[in-house]
Amino acid sequence: MAYNLLKGKKGIIFGALDEKSIAWKTALRCHEEGAQLVLTNAPVALRMGEINKLAEQVQAPVIGADVVNMDDLKKLFEESMKHFGGGVDFILHSIGMSLNVRKGKHYTEIDYGFNQKTLDISAMSLHRVLRTAWELDAINEWGSVVALTYIAAQRVFPDYNEMADAKALLESVARSFGYHYAIKKKVRVNTVSQSPTRTTAGSGVKGFDGFINYAEKMSPLGNATAEQCADYCVTLFSDLTRMVTMQNLFHDGGFSFTGISHAVIEQMEK
Ligand SMILES: NC(=O)c1ccc[n+]([C@@H]2O[C@H](COP(=O)([O-])OP(=O)(O)OC[C@H]3O[C@@H](n4cnc5c(N)ncnc54)[C@H](O)[C@@H]3O)[C@@H](O)[C@H]2O)c1
Repeated sequence: MAYNLLKGKKGIIFGALDEKSIAWKTALRCHEEGAQLVLTNAPVALRMGEINKLAEQVQAPVIGADVVNMDDLKKLFEESMKHFGGGVDFILHSIGMSLNVRKGKHYTEIDYGFNQKTLDISAMSLHRVLRTAWELDAINEWGSVVALTYIAAQRVFPDYNEMADAKALLESVARSFGYHYAIKKKVRVNTVSQSPTRTTAGSGVKGFDGFINYAEKMSPLGNATAEQCADYCVTLFSDLTRMVTMQNLFHDGGFSFTGISHAVIEQMEK
């Protein structure tokens, strides 16, 4: 059901890789709610070609940008502003990549070169995006920026590896830049901490099946789906949440505040 919550708004969606991506579902929901969109992803992801299906569905141009390349980001914002005929109202940062996880390196033995790239792609990229927008004055007053994160930033999930540190940094950047952007232009910046979700990035975590089943049992409402995450992002892009900024918002069916659940106790008693 659509409510026209984003009627007249213009947004850039980073990170739609395939139909499972949280960014893909969010683009569909934003379109349903009346937003005009630009889609972007790394050139290597665009080569898969999947994103063109989404682009057709949401009638959006696709502009390639490696999120750690400042020239790419500048071009992305300039072309988006040209396309929209003005500034942007919202941005979804839905980007994650761990080189050490990819290479099978244990947390205690990470390669620091890979680690720097992981932190740059998964966390400092939010700073790069916000800084580019800041310098080009690309975000309209009362704009909204959301980045996706995971609770491993606060609590230990051993196989989340260096991504836990990346998410902690990402959440900190959202707070720090959120302060400055609020003062400058009433732009809000938040992170949404989503339940484990079956996507390409999600499934890269070792032992993901056990992980997602455990979270399901530990969450009074069950795990939040990618579609539900998209719904939540729509509310954060809408004018109904104008005073929410610099927050890490849990979208996890209650997982984050549950100490133990009956479902887990029953399992342990077996
Ligand atoms: N899936 C989960 O369980 C889960 C849970 C909580 C948070 N998240 C977060 O949600 C976000 C989206 O992930 P997803 O689960 O939809 O997986 P996904 O694999 O569909 O999306 C990750 C995206 O990051 C993009 N990306 C990687 N390197 C890039 C670069 N250099 N430049 C531009 N884009 C780049 C990929 O191309 C891909 O589109 C990530 O931040 C992830 O950490 C996922």
